Amino acid sequence: MKAIRLRTDYLKEPLGLGNPKPRFYWNCEGGVKQTAYQIVAKVGDETVWNSGKVQSSSMTHICYAGRELKSRERVTWAIKLWDENDVGGEVCSSWFELGLLNPSDWKAKWITGDYKPDRKWRCSVDCFRKIFSAKKKVANARLYASARGVYDVIINGHRVEDFVLAPGMTDYRKRIQYQTYDVTSLLKEGNTIELRLADGWFRGSSAAYGVTNVYGTQTSVIAQLEITYVDGSRETVCTNELWSWSNDGPIRFADLKDGEIVDSRMKPSYCARAVVADAPKNVPLIASGNVPVREKERFEAKQLPGNVLDFGQNIAGYLEFTVRGKPGQVLKIRCGEILDENGNVDLSGIQESRPVKGWSQMGLIKKLMTGTVDGEAVDTPLQEIAFTCSGGEDHYKTSFAVFGFRYVQIKTKVAIDPADFAAIAVYSDMEQTGDFTCSNELVNKLLQNTRWSMKGNYLDLPTDCPTRERLGWTGDAQIFFDTGAYLMDTAAFFRKWLIDMEDAQYKDGLLPAVLPYQGVEMMYKATGVSVGWADAVYLIPYRYYKRFGDKNMLERSWPMMKKYADYVMSHLGHSDKKEAKANPYNAYTYEKGMHLGEWLEPAEFQEKISAGKQPKHPEEATAYLHLTMKTMAEIADILGKAEDKSVFLRIAVGSKKAYDHLIVKAGLLDTDRQAKLVRPLALGLLDGDTKKQAQERLVKAVENFNYCVGTGFLSTVFLLPMLTEAGAVEAAYKMLENTQKPSWLGEVVDGATTVWENWDGTASRNHYSPGAVCQWLFDTVAGIQVSGENSFRIVPVPGGALTYAKASYQSPYGVVESSWEKTCDGVKYMVTIPANTTAEVLLPTGLRKTLGAGQHEIK
Ligand code: BGC
Repeated sequence: MKAIRLRTDYLKEPLGLGNPKPRFYWNCEGGVKQTAYQIVAKVGDETVWNSGKVQSSSMTHICYAGRELKSRERVTWAIKLWDENDVGGEVCSSWFELGLLNPSDWKAKWITGDYKPDRKWRCSVDCFRKIFSAKKKVANARLYASARGVYDVIINGHRVEDFVLAPGMTDYRKRIQYQTYDVTSLLKEGNTIELRLADGWFRGSSAAYGVTNVYGTQTSVIAQLEITYVDGSRETVCTNELWSWSNDGPIRFADLKDGEIVDSRMKPSYCARAVVADAPKNVPLIASGNVPVREKERFEAKQLPGNVLDFGQNIAGYLEFTVRGKPGQVLKIRCGEILDENGNVDLSGIQESRPVKGWSQMGLIKKLMTGTVDGEAVDTPLQEIAFTCSGGEDHYKTSFAVFGFRYVQIKTKVAIDPADFAAIAVYSDMEQTGDFTCSNELVNKLLQNTRWSMKGNYLDLPTDCPTRERLGWTGDAQIFFDTGAYLMDTAAFFRKWLIDMEDAQYKDGLLPAVLPYQGVEMMYKATGVSVGWADAVYLIPYRYYKRFGDKNMLERSWPMMKKYADYVMSHLGHSDKKEAKANPYNAYTYEKGMHLGEWLEPAEFQEKISAGKQPKHPEEATAYLHLTMKTMAEIADILGKAEDKSVFLRIAVGSKKAYDHLIVKAGLLDTDRQAKLVRPLALGLLDGDTKKQAQERLVKAVENFNYCVGTGFLSTVFLLPMLTEAGAVEAAYKMLENTQKPSWLGEVVDGATTVWENWDGTASRNHYSPGAVCQWLFDTVAGIQVSGENSFRIVPVPGGALTYAKASYQSPYGVVESSWEKTCDGVKYMVTIPANTTAEVLLPTGLRKTLGAGQHEIK
């Protein structure tokens, strides 16, 4: 038996790790059971930790316990496993390298351009340069860099691309990530290092309204290049006031959402000097523990009429092209997700407007209240590139912007060859972990579309869409968490975002609805409390624990969850005194605050069934109160906090009674409105006959709506699981396979390549939350569920018109597979269980079996 898929702190061979006591992870290959492991960690020839032979079957969260590790040390760790016969196997190894662990390791200074920024104007990209020589033969070189803004690094003409849009996004008032790059192979005797600095999330346009200067008006960058020569001597090149600077380079304007203006006739003159900027006060520079943001898939263009190029796939990413125009000739390029009826790129579904002059506080308040903009307005985001040709052959690749697009429209007199254009997807470089295919190609396409929406929205933080808002909406992240965790390895990605969540919490316990902070606080603080959104604070750490078995993270998140729960508990009861008096369960009823409610139920459905807008949402709020208090009680139990557990249990029990009083007893469950039935079923608010009646009513509601989706933002994810639990498997499959809109496959039939925000595709075309239905494909159709350390449940549910389905999932404990096929002899099931794990298999026939490692056919 040997260890495979070795990881350190969830990362593959991380360079610049910030944690000197990392945890180790692996999977097993060969053999049935791991009975022992031994880890030997070395720095050079020195053994820094020898675990000895540890009798254990654990292959996750094994904490380094050797001598204290220091900044820059590169640790190789080798692991040997013993199998069920106590036979030791092949030794396998991996490594990690520590970053700069102490603030005093930083000798470089923060530098900025030699100009006084003004809130009212937008700046061109700052270029910094240092020329230096490497005096001897270089053994290795590391570059540590960060920015308040976004930066990139060019060494001897080569752009270091290992993390694009670095340093990524955090609340720059609380923490700033730095990156570590291995630049050994780029150094020569004479060297030029250039840093480019753009606005990014720090100063560029943000959120739906194009607010700028969210974190400040002055961007700055820091870089430290540490060279070790073959003879062991060292040299460090640091940013400081001696670096040259100018802002007259080709990138005249760069904004993450609006795009770039590039004049290829220009070259930075570096005619002035950098200015030393104030170092951020009490803001630690921390090693990025997330997977890097990288350039991924490339797409070729197909020419359409009107100088429109179609890349065939809606992505978040940018453009690369080569053109040969006359000097000064311009290409104006708009990037968008759809075309209008005349074949032009149409951004109307993803744009808002903002004043040309930028927002004033009052102007923004007015916009939020009335939807109007004073004075001359401009669309936001623009998603445009304006490129001026030099006269020779010009090569362009976007540096500091990302667009949500499938199409581009080019206005130019320059002759265009589509073969010279490519679209490049850009996202956090997570490993693909899950796959699902079945006999219905449209369902397969839905899964691919969902993965593309995930790729389009997991760029250092989980966002709602890559266009209009591009914000870390808590609700979207919460709803999609499990689906995302099947599709790609999100362990490092969500560890980072959970820390962003800690940063975002207000003193009173409240969380904003979007995080990290991106301005427009009055709006995102008010909506932050909304159930289903704010509840990400409990639901994500809980699901993270269930998925990755990470108790440390749960413990770390506990104070944050508890603080929010305390906030909620101090806001229970009706706000209206009369209602409060009339409700015997007032103390367990929740409605205070601004709740968004179900949000986005199909318009036609709302017209037919709901009577206009609900200003308050006691139904949704009390239902989520029950779910979250139950979840908190379970977490308190896991963490051994008995007193807390009993408090949360009391509220869980009380809120169920309150729900019963408000909704069930009031006869509100006799409805065709699917969300009103799905929610209490999914959140565990009903029992016995009431539950049975609600299940039957749901099946009828679904039938009455021709098996179309009638839920909105919060409940769509629960629809198929609740139908399955109600025993209405065929109804669930009918909904999945329905192509009549509103439905998941309706979009697919309409040519979707990502998941849409609303069913008719008039808003954003890249919103993953409705794609959370794919969780059901994994955990129910194929039936793959992680049930604990080294154990799975396999509970496949065949049905519908599907003749086969198969899924594989690279879980934290190894690759598990489940498939079924309808044959003339009945359904044939195949299950593959990874080494060192077991699975409890439960088939619809009632057959129940515990299986060990290996491939199994079950009839
Ligand atoms: C976003 C959503 C988000 C919602 C809050 C929308 O504008 O795009 O996905 O959760 O606002 O209701």
